[in-house]
Amino acid sequence: MRQPPPEQTTEGIRADFDRIALLPAAGGWDHNRHHHPWLLRQVPPGCGEALDAGCGLGGFARLLAGRCRHVVGVDLSPAMIEEARRRSATVPNLELRVADLMTAPLGTERFDCVASIATPHHLPLEPALTRLRDALRPGGVLLVLDLVRPVPASLPLDVAAVPVGLALGLWHNGRIRPPPAEREAWDAHARGDRYLSLPEVRRACDRVLPGARVRRHLLWRYSIVWRRP
Ligand SMILES: C[S@@+](CC[C@H](N)C(=O)[O-])C[C@H]1O[C@@H](n2cnc3c(N)ncnc32)[C@H](O)[C@@H]1O
Repeated sequence: MRQPPPEQTTEGIRADFDRIALLPAAGGWDHNRHHHPWLLRQVPPGCGEALDAGCGLGGFARLLAGRCRHVVGVDLSPAMIEEARRRSATVPNLELRVADLMTAPLGTERFDCVASIATPHHLPLEPALTRLRDALRPGGVLLVLDLVRPVPASLPLDVAAVPVGLALGLWHNGRIRPPPAEREAWDAHARGDRYLSLPEVRRACDRVLPGARVRRHLLWRYSIVWRRP
């Protein structure tokens, strides 16, 4: 009989990402980075303050720092933040902090743009979206990119994504598969991951982000774009 995935705890997630942060290949091209240019195009013009919630090694936060006056990146994993700081030494308008986005004060109506990439699936979606929403100023934009659970209707897109993902991995990283240590760390982490289907994401948005644009993307991702009225 198929076993249910183990429950993820905050401590378990922190430990997984502390381990992943130290992998030699960490921060290379991945399926989230493929969508960075599209996400950046959604950042409001003249963005002042931005937040990257679950910023990992800070790759997207550094891109935001090129568009916004000041960027705060928060992450649960001290090792991620330590490495993100090392990689961001020449980016003076990026502030990086170890924090749990579900409990740390993020500021109320503070940010012009709040982004969260490949992070909400570690959290209960509606409470997480509510926290991110409340940190936005009126007129500010929330950007979420995360993994989506395939459904039968998405099969053609999901199958087409396999050769595309392999080819892009080869192009950007010079190899089709990650090195064994990286694969092993991600596989161990992913055993506890649970992804929502697009209808589940849409239902959560209807409740906490009315009017949000929810889209399916290549490489098993969905996005949410929402402007706070
Ligand atoms: C798959 S990684 C994605 C990192 C980065 N956004 C990127 O796209 O490369 C997920 C990140 O979310 C962080 N994370 C998970 N739960 C969190 C929480 N409650 N508060 C802050 N960060 C969290 C993890 O530590 C990890 O760095």
